[in-house]
Amino acid sequence: MTGPAPLIEIDKLGLVLTTKKRADVTILRDVTFAAMKGEVVAIVGESGSGKSMTTRAIMDLLPAGAVVSGSVRFDGKQLLGQTKRELTSFRATRAAMIYQDPRAHINPVWTVGDFLVEAVVSAGRLTRQQAWQKAVQLLGEVGIEDAERRMAFYPHQLSGGLLQRMMIVAALMPDPDLIIADEATTALDVTVQAEVMKVFRSLRDRHDVTLLFITHDLDLAASVADTIVVMYAGRVVERGPARALYETPSHPYTAALLRARPKATSRERLQSIPGKPTSAAEAGIGCAFADRCRFAADVCRVQVPEGSACPRHRRGMPPR
Ligand SMILES: Nc1ncnc2c1ncn2[C@@H]1O[C@H](COP(=O)(O)OP(=O)(O)O)[C@@H](O)[C@H]1O
Ligand SMILES: [Mg+2]
Repeated sequence: MTGPAPLIEIDKLGLVLTTKKRADVTILRDVTFAAMKGEVVAIVGESGSGKSMTTRAIMDLLPAGAVVSGSVRFDGKQLLGQTKRELTSFRATRAAMIYQDPRAHINPVWTVGDFLVEAVVSAGRLTRQQAWQKAVQLLGEVGIEDAERRMAFYPHQLSGGLLQRMMIVAALMPDPDLIIADEATTALDVTVQAEVMKVFRSLRDRHDVTLLFITHDLDLAASVADTIVVMYAGRVVERGPARALYETPSHPYTAALLRARPKATSRERLQSIPGKPTSAAEAGIGCAFADRCRFAADVCRVQVPEGSACPRHRRGMPPR
């Protein structure tokens, strides 16, 4: 018997940017994780930890002056170093992005129908009629009532929740293998967020798609993902099966994130993480979280703990 095959394997991904203001700013270091076919992997971390840059490296949507290193394999094939043409085709057919702010990514003078149909038709994948039917069916699947009529609507006539469901449909239109949702529910209010999360959870069952779900919200990640990857200062500090990571985090940063989140069901006091997040550019050779970590010892400042990091810290023991 063969096990599930990886769809995407990221190995020691590094990213250095040169901007107008500064040369050689480290953004990502040694980012390593994989997503199996049909798996939901959540990438979690505070703002600035490198989540979006990781997805942009996968999609080859990095700013000018970006230098990447390491390896990004998709279905066994190396993506880094492919030609622009190969990567354009990859984005059109195999991978789709959903962003936090759908309005920034759609043309306000196009109807829902135009928006959903045009890309797949101009890519020569479906006839206009086939694409139209598929769009109507998918709109129904994501819980949009009266889908046929909605096809004639303009973006400004749709609420944020409807718009985001429409973006999920747009992502599904070319039958991609991978969907990356970057803070796709962050701007929505709580009830609408719950509805859109339901759609994300159902994707795997109905569409056999691999989902990279990017969020700063560990609860949300745990509610949808099979595997969670926790990032801090441009590195992966912990990754593992969602449930185990959520219930018994190994890394003090993951544990601190869990303590810092508001819980509707508990009167426990929130323990915000002291200090402010470090960026990858500021981080030295040691663990970037050391300055904020109540278990940090001298060794942490010169060396990043390996693998699933800091089991001794979790038990409150001094590190070796
Ligand atoms: N276009 C850019 N030019 C230079 N630095 C950037 C750019 N975009 C993001 N960064 C920096 O890269 C780091 C990671 O950012 P990002 O991946 O957007 O974090 P996240 O998505 O986790 O909030 C941050 O320190 C941010 O300031
Ligand atoms: Mg981001």
